Amino acid sequence: MSTSNLAKSDIVYCRGEKFRLYLDRETIANRVAELGARISADYEGRVPVLIGVLNGSFMFLADLLRSIEIECEVDFLKLSSYGASKISSGVVRELKKIDADIEGRDVIIVEDIVDTGLSMQFIVDRISEDNPSSVRTATLLHKHEATRVESQLDYVGFRIKNLFVIGYGLDYGQLARNLDQIYILDGEEPQ
Ligand code: IMP
Repeated sequence: MSTSNLAKSDIVYCRGEKFRLYLDRETIANRVAELGARISADYEGRVPVLIGVLNGSFMFLADLLRSIEIECEVDFLKLSSYGASKISSGVVRELKKIDADIEGRDVIIVEDIVDTGLSMQFIVDRISEDNPSSVRTATLLHKHEATRVESQLDYVGFRIKNLFVIGYGLDYGQLARNLDQIYILDGEEPQ
């Protein structure tokens, strides 16, 4: 069963597994707008560079950008993914580097989800090597119970339990990114 023809439903199927609605589009939109307003206020008079972490952050980043009311730039980097697994491999590799010159710039790293925290730590270390004047982080979701490596998280959309989630850019084996709401594996309780 495909995800796309069930995208308006509270239940979706992906790779033969059942997922149910966890964060609906209005809840996501309201929270993203709040984060955008905070970033606009925090960076007033400056021009931050937002660095989206591909692939998962593209939808969050697109909505976040549209709610930011100051000038800003955008760039992307890409890390290796989980493949088709639901468990973090714990191995992070950089597959695409940023193009922007971020020396002396205010950088905001934008992630879809922080799970073990290894990716975020890797990215913060990687970006810091280029001597930006400041580095902050934004993540739509934080699985705080799964986090093994604490990195500084400045803008967090939702703190969620240790649940596998899909939709709004988040994938399961590259599928389900196109869902505009966030779904969790059925049988697991939302907090
Ligand atoms: P970490 O390095 O373990 O923190 O994992 C971060 C990356 O794993 C995220 O950028 C996502 O690409 C992926 N990821 C972690 N949890 C989930 C999930 O529940 N659904 C989909 N992708 C996830």
